[in-house]
Amino acid sequence: MTTTLSLSFFLTLCLFVIPSLSSDSDPLQDFCVGDLKASPSINGFPCKSAVSASDFFFSGLGAPLNTTNANGVAVSPANVLTFPGLNTLGLSMNNVEFAPGGVNPPHSHPRATEAGVVIEGSVFVGFLTTNNTLFSKVIHAGEMFVVPRGLVHFQWNVGKGKARLITAFNNQLPGSAVLPSSLFGSNPTIPNPVLTKTFRTDDVTVNKLKSMFAV
Ligand code: GLV
Ligand code: MN
Repeated sequence: MTTTLSLSFFLTLCLFVIPSLSSDSDPLQDFCVGDLKASPSINGFPCKSAVSASDFFFSGLGAPLNTTNANGVAVSPANVLTFPGLNTLGLSMNNVEFAPGGVNPPHSHPRATEAGVVIEGSVFVGFLTTNNTLFSKVIHAGEMFVVPRGLVHFQWNVGKGKARLITAFNNQLPGSAVLPSSLFGSNPTIPNPVLTKTFRTDDVTVNKLKSMFAV
């Protein structure tokens, strides 16, 4: 009797524990093209009712980007907001272009692991572990990298000409927390005492950084 009770208790426990250990559930339909006019539901957009072939194609990753900016970098995303056919499919991509010397500044994607391939040029790619070890390498056209989910990473064009990457994410909207603008360009701004103490510096330096990253 006691053995039967413990066995049924164990099986009941398994029923509660196993789903929380599993990954995303398998799709229940072929696709769910996002209806961006509707409010997002708990995890993504509701499905659009009328679907056509154009919902499954996106030509926005090929157009040349303007890299004339302070970082010398430009990113064009193919995520659920620009390509609603990705809704519920758990993936997205970016086209990233660099002027010579351009830097994609330290940032992290809270909801995705990133994989990337160099299409053109030579790029110094690095990511930081949570105990501040830097893993980095210069990679060239045809070579790939990976950044584990949520870790801070950056890229720097170290070649003579321009450079280009295509990156991919295991999330339809990976999100990007770009460290300099998160810290110095937030709205409302982070109070100066937090930043002066954090960076062991003074108001003049913090105000200068805030003025550079203000939106
Ligand atoms: C590169 O790091 C990217 O987020 O596309
Ligand atoms: Mn990234």
